[in-house]
Amino acid sequence: MGLWTGLQLLLVVCTALTDADFVCNHCDCYGTTINCTARNLEHHPNASEWPTDMVVTYVVMDNNGLVHVTQYPPMAVLHLSLSHNRIVRIDGEAFLHLPNLTELDLSHNEITSDNLIADVFKGTYAPDEYKPLTNLHILKLSYNAIHMLRSDLFDHTPNLKILTLDSNPFKVLDSATVMALSTLTYLEVLDLSYTQLMDLPEYLLHTPKYIRVLNLTGNLMTRVPAALQHTHALEVLYFSDNPVIVLDHSSFQSEMPYLRELHISNMPNLTFISSGAMSKLVSLQEVYIGHNHHLSDISPDAFSSRKDNEESEQWPPIVKLDVGHNNLGALDRHLLGHWDVLQYLNLEGNPWVCDCENQWMVSTLLPTVEKIVQDQLDSLECSQPDQMRGRKLHELEVRDYHMRCMDTAGNHPEKDGKLLIGMLVGVLLAIPVTLILLLLLRNSRFGSRFFSRGPAAYSRTFYSPTDSAEH
Ligand SMILES: *[C@@H]1O[C@H](CO)[C@@H](O)[C@H](O)[C@H]1NC(C)=O
Ligand SMILES: *[C@@H]1O[C@H](CO)[C@@H](O)[C@H](O)[C@H]1NC(C)=O
Ligand SMILES: *[C@@H]1O[C@H](CO)[C@@H](O)[C@H](O)[C@H]1NC(C)=O
Ligand SMILES: *[C@@H]1O[C@H](CO)[C@@H](O)[C@H](O)[C@H]1NC(C)=O
Ligand SMILES: *[C@@H]1O[C@H](CO)[C@@H](O)[C@H](O)[C@H]1NC(C)=O
Repeated sequence: MGLWTGLQLLLVVCTALTDADFVCNHCDCYGTTINCTARNLEHHPNASEWPTDMVVTYVVMDNNGLVHVTQYPPMAVLHLSLSHNRIVRIDGEAFLHLPNLTELDLSHNEITSDNLIADVFKGTYAPDEYKPLTNLHILKLSYNAIHMLRSDLFDHTPNLKILTLDSNPFKVLDSATVMALSTLTYLEVLDLSYTQLMDLPEYLLHTPKYIRVLNLTGNLMTRVPAALQHTHALEVLYFSDNPVIVLDHSSFQSEMPYLRELHISNMPNLTFISSGAMSKLVSLQEVYIGHNHHLSDISPDAFSSRKDNEESEQWPPIVKLDVGHNNLGALDRHLLGHWDVLQYLNLEGNPWVCDCENQWMVSTLLPTVEKIVQDQLDSLECSQPDQMRGRKLHELEVRDYHMRCMDTAGNHPEKDGKLLIGMLVGVLLAIPVTLILLLLLRNSRFGSRFFSRGPAAYSRTFYSPTDSAEH
């Protein structure tokens, strides 16, 4: 009896352990999710090893040792993540039976250009169309070994909205790559950060006319690519960490009426933002210019513009400004049109100069933005002139302190002491010289007449002007 039950049980267990349970025996299967994160999988489960008795919408297979991705069986999967594996190869039509696939993450693998072919993304057959993965909107190919894209790569993914290609060794975007990207009519977000690019091909952004967000962080660009002129709807530009030296009126050559957020931080070579550099960016709301350790000057006219037919200056409607951790000594009050509308302002980590030209920062700016810079107040310090070093701007504000001017000869007030000593030395030298001259005069004919009143009279004459000056 016991034996019989035991055998029965064994039979049940054996039938249960068919192919179809491989995935759920190795991973967490719950709800509509299969979580195979970090299960030491070296082989991609084949089609018959996926569960057939659950509706699966979310599959995560991150952090395994997968090398070769094979075809998935029919599933209702919306999100599939294969990030942080060692994937080199993906079979053609691998995702054919995942018609609802919306997001595919293949980042952090070893995929090369040679292995990335259009067949991989082939979708269900449609009589008069390419075979599209109609619902695929997000494709992540970051951190692979891709240096170019085949021109037909996206033939089966015409509806991509977000494409990340960052941290791949592109170096340049060749014509096949440009062609591939230009087939993505509905692309909205393109991440090309850390791809070793020195420039963008001129017409790269002409066809994908809905691009809203472009990430060019961490490239080798010494100037803002002229290709940005051809964007149609760009709203957010990440351009930090590029070796730009100067931003000037030729940086953004044509008006970008939709650009509202700009990132130009972490630029070790940037020294100067000159007049008109961002005048064409008339809709800017957020500007992040931080951690540019050599940036010592932002022109008062960096943002403002003056249209030919208008008298008055125009400023973009900036509400968030980060100028933290640069090498700025001063900020000009005309840099923004309205400081009082700011919702965010970072002034930290700059060597502020506390002289009369910067008085407005202490007396006007700080009281205006006090609420939003509250937690910076302790760290905003004067670093020049010498006798002001270490004084807190906030403390000067509270004490209604009037800072001195550096004089026109470029002498700093702290040098007044040296000047006084210089004058004293001059005076001390002048006395014996004058005495010698007087003695010489006295020995001459004119002199003897002049001094005939005797030594007492002489000394009275000599000292009396000084005496009266002292009263
Ligand atoms: C998947 O499992 C890993 C570890 O087993 C866990 O850290 C992660 O949060 C899980 N992810 C999901 C989406 O459940
Ligand atoms: C799938 O894997 C199982 C177990 O490794 C194997 O028995 C089966 O033959 C494989 N099927 C295919 C179609 O490769
Ligand atoms: C998958 O898409 C089909 C139509 O393409 C739809 O009928 C079905 O409900 C979708 N499944 C899920 C889980 O969204
Ligand atoms: C842009 O790229 C940087 C670096 O790869 C990343 O930190 C940032 O999140 C990206 N931004 C967007 C919107 O993709
Ligand atoms: C940028 O500065 C680094 C050193 O900080 C230097 O090695 C590099 O050559 C500079 N790049 C350019 C384009 O000037």
